[in-house]
Amino acid sequence: MTTDAKQRTAIKEYQLKNLSQFLNKKGIIPRSIHIYVGTGSSLAKMKSNFVKVIEIYKKYFPNIKEINLGGGFAFDYDNLDPDKKYFVWEKYFKFISLKIKQLELAKDVKFILEPGRDVFADSGSLVVSVKRIVNLKNKKNIGTDGSYVLMPSATIRKRQHGLSFFDKNFKEIKNPKTIGVLSGCTTLSSDYLFPGEVKIPTDLQAGDYIVVKDIGAYGSTQHMEFLNKKPCPEVLIKENSGVYLITERGKDDDKIRYLLSEPKKI
Ligand SMILES: Cc1ncc(COP(=O)(O)O)c(C=O)c1O
Repeated sequence: MTTDAKQRTAIKEYQLKNLSQFLNKKGIIPRSIHIYVGTGSSLAKMKSNFVKVIEIYKKYFPNIKEINLGGGFAFDYDNLDPDKKYFVWEKYFKFISLKIKQLELAKDVKFILEPGRDVFADSGSLVVSVKRIVNLKNKKNIGTDGSYVLMPSATIRKRQHGLSFFDKNFKEIKNPKTIGVLSGCTTLSSDYLFPGEVKIPTDLQAGDYIVVKDIGAYGSTQHMEFLNKKPCPEVLIKENSGVYLITERGKDDDKIRYLLSEPKKI
């Protein structure tokens, strides 16, 4: 179910009356109502969405026992404080618990949440290597072996990601001060890992590495086949117990990532 009449799929608000009448006539009680408000939604939007869902539940489906509030809880990619990137869960839970009491909702109605992005975003990073550096008039163009097709949603949403820089021995290079842009390596002249200028270490050089943070949500599943760039291999880093290869890089003659049946310790 969607509150936005522009969305392609799902039942629209104007169809609810007919739907509930039809179900009543057939004697069908739906198991659940499921709403998806759209990704990156703020606390204010999530609150008003909750109120709206409850109105729909009371008006059209008062007998159902499950309300699925979906996902869409915003993760703040731009916030440099790693503890302040998350959706404000406590405020949200306080609000819905208050509303449940105020609206005297039946105690046997179960609420389900499906947060994806906010749970996984900062669990994954993309590692690219620096291939060459071109000095432009007032910035450096950093040629990497990456591409926006590895993480297209950043470009689609005009979003920047946090970065860390490492030398060829993987020693961190701190204090990025110089203005740069991060080029991808495909034939597309506008291929940048993500749009806009970033701060890079002044002495960054070919052979160094850049770690692009917060790409854990939808990770390499968002890889696009466009431009023939092979998908990255993925590794899972377990706390204190090693690094495991979980998908192999796509092959030269196709563009598919290969999920290993068993993680391989490397
Ligand atoms: C039905 C449904 N639930 C949950 C999610 C997760 O959304 P998010 O990652 O924005 O929290 C999605 C994402 O497309 C979805 O379609």
